[in-house]
Amino acid sequence: MSEIIIRGGGPLEGSVEVQGAKNSVLPILAATILHPGQVALRGCPHLSDVDASIRILRHLGCQARWEGDELLVDSSALSRWDIPDHLMREMRSSVIFLGAILARMGWAEMSYPGGCELGPRPIDLHLAVLRKLGADLREEGGHLRCTAQHMEGREIALSIPSVGATENAILAACGAEGETVLVNAAREPEICDLQNFLQAIGCQVRGAGSSTICIQGRRETHDAVHTVMPDRIVAATYLAAVAAAGGTVELRNVDYRHLSTVTAALHEAGCRITGGEGRIALRSDGRLGSAGTIRTAPYPGFPTDAQAILMAALLRSQGTTVFVETIFESRYRHVDELRRMGAEISVADRVAVVTGVPRLSGANVQCTDLRGGAALLVAGLAAEGVTKVGGVRHILRGYEDPVRDLAALGAKIEWES
Ligand code: UD1
Repeated sequence: MSEIIIRGGGPLEGSVEVQGAKNSVLPILAATILHPGQVALRGCPHLSDVDASIRILRHLGCQARWEGDELLVDSSALSRWDIPDHLMREMRSSVIFLGAILARMGWAEMSYPGGCELGPRPIDLHLAVLRKLGADLREEGGHLRCTAQHMEGREIALSIPSVGATENAILAACGAEGETVLVNAAREPEICDLQNFLQAIGCQVRGAGSSTICIQGRRETHDAVHTVMPDRIVAATYLAAVAAAGGTVELRNVDYRHLSTVTAALHEAGCRITGGEGRIALRSDGRLGSAGTIRTAPYPGFPTDAQAILMAALLRSQGTTVFVETIFESRYRHVDELRRMGAEISVADRVAVVTGVPRLSGANVQCTDLRGGAALLVAGLAAEGVTKVGGVRHILRGYEDPVRDLAALGAKIEWES
């Protein structure tokens, strides 16, 4: 599975089911540590980032096994509180284990997490919230030693609504005495799914989806079954693919409400979109117009994770679309690869301007990061001729099998090993 080959230029038709959400299941896997018993995660996507989380859980002494798309985790035998460097480097989300390990064990040791592909990704806010709960954190040469024998709930205001810092704060607060009130928390739907999971195992968390989240710590936990929410960025990818290639497609297992800024942009560009309970349909003639100005922002704003994907959909549009990336410093690395296919994009600092061209041509391109890689698939489907996408391991961090899903929609796409 080293390359994906796309023969683009044809429309997409049909219906496909969207996988469970990566950004939801990763913090939930860290949260399984809070319960010294068994949990079942239904609709858990088979992703390399999920495998990395499973390796961390097993290192800590937990058991994890698959039954189809259900992942069973038993944390009753958890015995370690350290995560070795090679496991920390596999993904950025490994840092979410910090709050969970502290809550369960009272101390934790790990190095800094990997994943700097979008520019600098500091963890200062994560550490600040843990310190406010009473954890003693020492940083020496990229290594973190944390002790938190007694954490106490209190009001904590985040300076920016960081998704990861919100998750770490919630997990640590579950192990703190009394009530924690988190102000300026991230409002992403994945935080709601984490709350749903925590409530299912008996933790007392409320307010997710709003800017204020309240956690009553040290509650008795119990075994539970949880279904992982649908992946809104995977859904956005497949919508962008049909928008770019043309055709009529229905996605199942989606929450229409989570996609409102993405569907608004696609509508603006000329797609016809209808949504209902658990489904969304999109029709496009493949000739889009401008989507105006797209400014990424924390939820409910336009997701930074869909920026590259929407950009790829608009490469052949009539008109000009402006992207303003406000979340990450370096999130236009896919642009050079898209230019190889004939795209006209100019970038200045955090602004990218896409001027539609009449045609794209297939090329050999390389994934630079997860969503940048997904954007290459979208562009490849809209390009004439053959596109070879290399560096697919980036894509497999977040997409279970994009070849299977896009082929189900009639795309001429295959793995080349
Ligand atoms: C999560 C998502 C990622 C998405 C991002 C923004 C997961 C696994 N990943 O990443 O797909 O692109 O939200 O929606 O859920 N920041 C700091 N200090 C910190 C933490 C963050 O300065 O301690 C900054 C970051 O550099 C960035 C901004 O805050 O500029 C937002 O980052 P954050 O919301 O924390 O993103 P992640 O949780 O890393």
